[in-house]
Amino acid sequence: MNEFETKALALLKDMTLEEKIGQMNQVSGSVGYIPEHLSTAIRAGRVGSVINEVDPDINAELQRIAKEETRLGIPLLIGRDVIHGFRTIFPIPLGQAATWCKDTIAQSARIAAIEANTVGVNWTFSPMIDIARDPRWGRIAESFGEDPYLCATLSVAMVEGYQSESLSNPTALAACAKHFAGYGASESGRDYNTTNIPENELRNVYLPPFHALSDAQVATFMTSFSDLNGIPASGNTWLTKTLLRDEWGFKGFVVSDWESIKGLTIHGLAEDKRHAAKLAATAQVDMEMVSECYLAYLGDLVENNEVPLATLDTMVSRILTLKFEMGLFDSPRASQPLPQTLPQAHLLAAKNAALKSCVLLKNQDKQLPLRPHNLNNIAVIGPLADDGFEQMGTWVFDGCAEDSVTVLSAIKARVGDDCHVSYQKAMANSRSQALLNEAEILQTAKDADVIVAVLGEEAILSGEAHCRTNIDLPGAQHALINVMSSSGKPVVAVIMAGRPLTLEPVLDKLDAVLYAWHPGTMGGPAIAELLFGVHSPSGKLPVSFPRVVGQIPLYYAQKQTGRPADEESFIHQDDIPERAGQTSLGMTATHLDCHFSALFPFGFGLSYADFHYSDIALSSGEVSKDAPLTVSVTLTNMSDIKADEIVQLYIRDRVGSVTRPVKELKGFQRVTMKPNESRSIHFLITVDDLRFYDINQAFNYEQGDFEVWVGSHSHSGLHGTFKLVE
Ligand code: NOJ
Repeated sequence: MNEFETKALALLKDMTLEEKIGQMNQVSGSVGYIPEHLSTAIRAGRVGSVINEVDPDINAELQRIAKEETRLGIPLLIGRDVIHGFRTIFPIPLGQAATWCKDTIAQSARIAAIEANTVGVNWTFSPMIDIARDPRWGRIAESFGEDPYLCATLSVAMVEGYQSESLSNPTALAACAKHFAGYGASESGRDYNTTNIPENELRNVYLPPFHALSDAQVATFMTSFSDLNGIPASGNTWLTKTLLRDEWGFKGFVVSDWESIKGLTIHGLAEDKRHAAKLAATAQVDMEMVSECYLAYLGDLVENNEVPLATLDTMVSRILTLKFEMGLFDSPRASQPLPQTLPQAHLLAAKNAALKSCVLLKNQDKQLPLRPHNLNNIAVIGPLADDGFEQMGTWVFDGCAEDSVTVLSAIKARVGDDCHVSYQKAMANSRSQALLNEAEILQTAKDADVIVAVLGEEAILSGEAHCRTNIDLPGAQHALINVMSSSGKPVVAVIMAGRPLTLEPVLDKLDAVLYAWHPGTMGGPAIAELLFGVHSPSGKLPVSFPRVVGQIPLYYAQKQTGRPADEESFIHQDDIPERAGQTSLGMTATHLDCHFSALFPFGFGLSYADFHYSDIALSSGEVSKDAPLTVSVTLTNMSDIKADEIVQLYIRDRVGSVTRPVKELKGFQRVTMKPNESRSIHFLITVDDLRFYDINQAFNYEQGDFEVWVGSHSHSGLHGTFKLVE
């Protein structure tokens, strides 16, 4: 037992049952003043945490009441969804994942923690580490994408940034691993929908990031809204007790999602709120967000021994332990307004994150970078070119549109008087079904040397409960592309979106495509610097881009199937001979009306530099418990441009007691390469990297043949083989 747990247990001895239950209750703030019922409830010891209060004076006063006017002086946890920045907004998490850069992500979280703590917020509900393989799901924007390894690696970095070296640091923000578990598999990409995930898939795909954050001592977990295999997560004893506590040994506390304990009655798992409280407490969901079933019924449940007092004590002590560990009892953290203008260091960090997050998907005839001295007139066209609010993306409560620098203003600032910049918004918003003035748009396009089209989805089209069945560019944007393309001028598209969009229908009409996600406060300058070649794009996709919605779910780490698709046997329906009758059409795992591959695969992203991989070498043909293996390649920058490359290592376990994916990411390195530099890149593979949950749900490695690839994305790479031996 550590010193904080000891203190928590000592305090627990002095607490009444009501005071204990009060610690398990989180109450909503956010009304701009302290309502009478809230101050009364805090004074009476009925509140352990407040959610959504960001006024520094109110937060200071709430803490003062809790510490000075309650019997035991227990401070509050003040929680907020600080998802990709607090006031300085960084790229959406899916964009941050595209950086494949732990340092960048840790730094964005550190800055968010400093800003949030300034106003008295000490707990964030981030990171969201749901594996997301369905771009229809609006919350894919909040995720780190489709891959368990990438997600686990980056989420650990994010938690390190929030929590810093110690939770007692006055700028540390307690983090929260959410949503436990399986939420990303919501059927048909419809939010809150049912999930059915076999245990083996759950353990191999959906749980690794959560396990990694439990090991990394994230302060809290949040349960998912969703129903997992018939048991909603907020009343699922297997998840939050058997797995999280008994198997993983998680020491922090678990909070429900918003009213998700009451939600057990709506799911049809609980008869009423009392029953819901009993199920959630039995599952050891330690704190209830907002719906107050615990407050109303836990006392009665304990008195009737339906929830043992010892269980309740354990749950409360976890909450108190965090409060002691954060030092909240000793000194309430300062609450003061944020400075009027954001610190330069924060803005620079936001720009650097945006720079690394943009992914160059197409660059026909090296259209990019733009060379300003060759240009007299640039047309900037599109609904997202000059909108400081929309470029921040979903889950932004505390960022200000006024702080944002847009693409239009950044391009103007960059070219100065050397080049004329004309602008057409073209559509009222990204969803509008009509163009504002087609003739003017066409004329502007014709008058320009190059068109920078800033397209995509406005912020409201992704995020919680913002799912779409059609993930084409929305509204009249296809028509807008047709107009721009008919001008005969090159069209460079910058696409801001909260998800992969289906770009195949328009790709031919675009000369270059820079995918910018929602890039945040400093998106404009970052994009301008990429367009004009101050830096090379270096982001790589954290998620596969489908050609059409009908391919979903589509992810690189698919299983082989018994009849894998292959190029030779694939027949598109347009190529079926007349009167084919019952002729065999390949008989492999394909659709007839669409190629089986992704439009852009996981890990993909172009550069202005030209990278060449050669000379793969394995230190041995075998790996064993005592003898790891080194895989090396030579990476050469064949260009005279300095640029970052993200080198990726994938493996395949040929035969397993359960079938294994065709490829699995097991390592990556972001390296900065000087012009014409050649360098050896090494990866170490140990048997631990080759473990998976086997037929008995045990985390083991199995002897046999493996393949390995090192390259620039999931569908490329130099190839080698090795054996795992005893
Ligand atoms: C509901 C969301 O699912 C969750 O992610 C969020 O943290 C809570 N509401 C609190 O706002």
